[in-house]
Amino acid sequence: PNVTVIDHPLVQHKLTIMRRRETSTASFRQLLREIAMLLCYEATRDLELELVDIETPIQAMQAPMLTGKKLVFASILRAGEGLLDGMLDLVPAARVAHVGLYRDPNTLAAVEYYFKAPDDMGNRRVIVLDPMLATANSAIAAIDRLKEAGATDMKFVCLLASPEGVENLSGHHPDVPIVSAAVDECLNDHGYIVPGLGDAGDRMFG
Ligand code: PRP
Repeated sequence: PNVTVIDHPLVQHKLTIMRRRETSTASFRQLLREIAMLLCYEATRDLELELVDIETPIQAMQAPMLTGKKLVFASILRAGEGLLDGMLDLVPAARVAHVGLYRDPNTLAAVEYYFKAPDDMGNRRVIVLDPMLATANSAIAAIDRLKEAGATDMKFVCLLASPEGVENLSGHHPDVPIVSAAVDECLNDHGYIVPGLGDAGDRMFG
């Protein structure tokens, strides 16, 4: 599977605080926003640059600017919103798609309740956001739906993944690289990542 684990010390330190049972809602939100910036920095490392002519106060020069496809952040509701804030801090001009999904508690299947994406998805680079990649049912359903809407160039960014989720997502969508701050031990019978951090949506929103 094409998975990049971001082992940067700041990411790992912040993630450990997020995992702690006693971390407050306010801290959890703030840390997710901060980690999102660091994940965004890594996930955008391969954006294209071109040299443009500019003038500094001293003299003319050629300097690099972003070129090529523009970004869309696709947030998987609800918890994706926590990553979205930090991503938009770094790339304020990005467009945003929203995919509303919840997991059926019995079957763990992803059920769609909302979808809205910019209309030029085919011309954009899409970064799909969800803090948790557990069974990967949500990520697979979201990416299916974004492909239907025209997306061809995608990455999936999460905070925590299970080995099962990584296998499942890369089996269904081998063209979509995965970026995560950690890959944990396993899933439990309820589809929670172990040791994980609990339910990211609940810890952020209640
Ligand atoms: C959680 C989490 C992911 C999904 C991951 O969402 O935020 O979206 O489950 O699980 P999966 O990989 O097994 O699909 P949940 O369904 O609890 O909805 P919420 O984000 O609205 O709380």
